[in-house]
Amino acid sequence: MKKLNLLFFGPPGAGKGTIAKEVSKKYNIPHISTGDMLREAVASESELGKQVKSILDSGQLVSDEIMLEVIKSRLNKNDVDKGFILDGFPRTLPQAEALETLLKDIKNPITGIIYLEVDEETVVKRITSRRICPKCGKIYNIITLKPKIDNTCDICGVELIQRDDDKEEVVRDRYKVYMEKTYPVIEFYKKYNQFFTVDGSGTVEIVTKEVFNILEGIL
Ligand code: AP5
Repeated sequence: MKKLNLLFFGPPGAGKGTIAKEVSKKYNIPHISTGDMLREAVASESELGKQVKSILDSGQLVSDEIMLEVIKSRLNKNDVDKGFILDGFPRTLPQAEALETLLKDIKNPITGIIYLEVDEETVVKRITSRRICPKCGKIYNIITLKPKIDNTCDICGVELIQRDDDKEEVVRDRYKVYMEKTYPVIEFYKKYNQFFTVDGSGTVEIVTKEVFNILEGIL
């Protein structure tokens, strides 16, 4: 049976994390979010966390050199043998080129690329109303995906937080960085047969269903 070795693309706030979590649950494959990994490093005040905190807060990209170290050690774990979802990597052309080599070395080629297309204004609206559980990472939205009790995680019961880079001016900078550095990466992957563009502006249910249909086609 073919494996799901997936790349998720889309602007900040496109819904990559939200949909990737659904895919991870359904197909039992790890959701590897480089953004989550970096935020965990910041929260634990590790050496890496200290190095990247101000970069994350400003919405700029962490250097390719650091990101390659982060992703290399993650892809060397055994759980990727059953498939994986890369969310937030690669984000630059040098990262994409390095990933090709890395996956060739571990004999685990990409089998599907999902690009969630969403416009800038939708992104700004979604991100400024996003809230996150600091314990389990569940993603909420105070307009579209509210928790059962105001500002409280349905699963952990702890108070939800807002990411430091979710302020409107930072979101607009992140979008700019995305268009400059990451959009060319999407163009690079469009040549693959397994590249799929999904309209990410529908509800979570609609987008999830469309992505599941694509994945069933791949399998
Ligand atoms: P990262 O964490 O990857 O941020 P991002 O790409 O900007 O994406 P987001 O996490 O903001 O959005 P998402 O698409 O996952 O949306 P979500 O599902 O949460 O990276 C953060 C930073 O880390 C970067 O700026 C950079 O500094 C650094 N970094 C990470 N990787 C790097 C790399 N490879 N190289 C260099 N630097 C790197 O959804 C957003 C909101 O919308 C939520 O509230 C959700 O509930 C809601 N929502 C989602 N889908 C829908 C829908 N269909 N309808 C309505 N609401 C929806």
